[in-house]
Amino acid sequence: MKTESTGSLVVVGTGITVSGQMTLITESLLKTADIVLSVVTESALINLQMINSNVVCLRNLYEQGKSRALTYQKMTQRIVDEVKSGKKVVAAFYGHPGVFVNPSHVAIKQLKSEGYSAEMLPGISAEDCLVADLGLDPSHYGCQSYEATQFLLRQYTLDPHMMQIIWQIGSIADFTHNKHRTSHPGLTLLRDELLKYFSPSHKIIIYEASTIPIAAPRIEYLELRDLAAVIPKPITTMVIPSKGLPEFDMKTMTKLKLTPAIFEQQLFG
Ligand SMILES: C[S@@+](CC[C@H](N)C(=O)[O-])C[C@H]1O[C@@H](n2cnc3c(N)ncnc32)[C@H](O)[C@@H]1O
Repeated sequence: MKTESTGSLVVVGTGITVSGQMTLITESLLKTADIVLSVVTESALINLQMINSNVVCLRNLYEQGKSRALTYQKMTQRIVDEVKSGKKVVAAFYGHPGVFVNPSHVAIKQLKSEGYSAEMLPGISAEDCLVADLGLDPSHYGCQSYEATQFLLRQYTLDPHMMQIIWQIGSIADFTHNKHRTSHPGLTLLRDELLKYFSPSHKIIIYEASTIPIAAPRIEYLELRDLAAVIPKPITTMVIPSKGLPEFDMKTMTKLKLTPAIFEQQLFG
């Protein structure tokens, strides 16, 4: 391990709203950092600049029409370089910094392998907001969560008894930074894949957590058959509520000396 005088990294999350969702420890680390490298929205950036005078915005590394993977490599490199130059670095990402974020995990792994102190603190993710806004407890039916393109490209086995969370439906099969995308042909494929598990009239939810504390979230209920008509944004997440709990496994129930009535009363009250 390098000594205290060498650089270090803490990766933090600023939450989904521009302010008010940061933990106390995150705010305190932001205050005392030598440099804050940020990947947050413009409004959240202003908030960070009020906490620390040395904030560098890494969002500028995104280039319209260019590969996001390349941008992630550049972000990682910048974070690693600042730590290696001896600074106490805080890298701040919106939401939870470890949920669907590549440079945070890669930078920590690389720095740790070279003996630097590098850690991540949790933040409030879109999924946390979704549970609160939609009133859907992921433990009730169980929950599966996927990135939209990967869900389509891999042979997953979806369990329709569980709640489904599908991330990044606004950029299916598009690996570039594209602020002006107008057509979303991938949604037709997604609908067709989901129709293998759910009926055309199954209700789905198009969800966008509010990024401004007082504003309302986007919560649109529609039938699965209408998914292809949705116009998603880069921040849109899709939720598919469960079609209902599966039957009990009575053999295991008996082995545990339980009955369905006792189980339901004890677990759900
Ligand atoms: C690169 S991931 C970042 C996730 C983020 N780190 C988090 O903790 O929520 C981007 C995806 O997260 C989801 N997301 C981001 N912001 C959101 C919001 N305000 N409401 C709903 N989903 C959001 C969307 O699925 C979006 O395509």
